[in-house]
Amino acid sequence: MGLEISEAKGCLLIGTNGKEYLDLISGIAVSYLGHGNSAIIDAIKTQTEKHLHLMVYGEFIQSPQVQYGDAILQLLPAALDNIYFVNSGSEAIDGAIKLARRFTGRSGIIAFRNAYHGGTLGAISINGSEKYKCAFGKLLPGVVMADFGSEDVLEHIDESISCVIMEVIQAEAGVFSTKKEWLEKVAQKCRQQGVLLVFDEVQTAFGRTGKMFAFEHFDVIPDILVLGKALGAGMPLGAFISSKEIMLSLSHDPVLGHITTFGGHPVSCAAGSAGLGFLQRNDFQQQAEEKGKLFAEELKHRLIKDIRQHGLLIACDFDDSSLNIKVIKACIKRGLLTDWFLYNDKCMRICPPLTITHQEIYMACKKINEVLEEIT
Ligand SMILES: Cc1ncc(COP(=O)(O)O)c(C=O)c1O
Repeated sequence: MGLEISEAKGCLLIGTNGKEYLDLISGIAVSYLGHGNSAIIDAIKTQTEKHLHLMVYGEFIQSPQVQYGDAILQLLPAALDNIYFVNSGSEAIDGAIKLARRFTGRSGIIAFRNAYHGGTLGAISINGSEKYKCAFGKLLPGVVMADFGSEDVLEHIDESISCVIMEVIQAEAGVFSTKKEWLEKVAQKCRQQGVLLVFDEVQTAFGRTGKMFAFEHFDVIPDILVLGKALGAGMPLGAFISSKEIMLSLSHDPVLGHITTFGGHPVSCAAGSAGLGFLQRNDFQQQAEEKGKLFAEELKHRLIKDIRQHGLLIACDFDDSSLNIKVIKACIKRGLLTDWFLYNDKCMRICPPLTITHQEIYMACKKINEVLEEIT
C-alpha cells in the first residue's frame, strides 16, 4: 500500500501527510485494543525501566512471564495448565508440532486445506495452500492434508499420527467456521487413537470472535492451544499451551526440547498482561459479537455476495478479486483501511480493534456502501 504512518491512536492511523485512516485491520488481529492504549503503554514503560532481556527463556524466573502465564491459564480449562512462551505464532506452531511428535513418539500430522499456520518451515509444511508451500523444496514428511469439515479425515486419524492441527475458524481462507458435531467426532477419534488435537488460535483468540477463545463456541477442548498476534498486545509474542504432563516431554531427552532466546520477552509479557486486564475490565469480547453483527447489518449492497462474521472477524465476499481490490483501494482513498485475505482475494477483511465505537462502525459501513455505489 505504501502508506507511511507517523502515529496511531485508538482506531486511527495518521499518515505522515496528516491524513487519517480508520483501522479495519488491526495489523492482522494484533492491535486488538487499538493503538496507544495507555494501560499497555504504561506497562511497557514500567517494565522497560525495570529490565529488558535477562537470560535465555527458562533459566531465570521472570515475573512478567509468570504473571501473564497465570492470568491466561486461569481463563482456560483445567487440562490446559502449562504455557510455553515463544516469539511468534509460527514459532508456537513449530513448538506445538515438536511437542506433539515428542509426546506421542509419532511423526504423522493431519492438517487442513486452506488453513494458514505461518511462515517457518514447520508451519509451511502444514499450511493449506500449495501455492504458498511448493516453492521451498522438501517440507516435513508425513503430513496428510484433509478437507476442513469433511468426515473423510476420520479414517486418517490412526496410530501413525501425532496430532490433528486446525484453526477452528479458518481466518486467511476468508473466515470459514467448522461445525460442532464434526469437531466432536474428530476429537473423539483423536482420543481413541492417542492423537493430540491442536487448535491454532493465533488469529482468533482474545475476544476476536466474541468469546475469549474461538474453541469456546464449540465446546471441544484441545490438547494443545497455540497463541500469537494479540497475545503481546502489539509486542511480539507467541505461546503454546498444554497439560503439564504433555509439556514435560520437552524437558528431557534432550533436556532443552525447545530453546528460544527471546521467547516470553519481559516487555512483551508485561504488555500482553496489561492488554488482557484491559480487555477483561471492559468486556470487549462480549462487545465484539454485537459490533460484528452491526457491521453485517449495515453492509448491505447488491455487490456484496456474502458476509461471514464471527464477532469482529468479518469477511465480505465479492464476485471477483478485481472488484474486491478496486473496493479496497477506493476505501483507502477515503481513509478506511481494509485488506483482502491471504488465500481469498475475492474477499474483503474487516477485522478492526475490538475497541471500535458504534459511531466508527456506522461511518465505516457508510463509506464502504458509498464506494460500492460509485463503482456500479
Ligand atoms: C492462524 C495463524 N496461525 C499462525 C500464524 C503465524 O503467526 P506469525 O506471523 O506471528 O508467525 C498466523 C499469522 O497470520 C495465523 O493467522
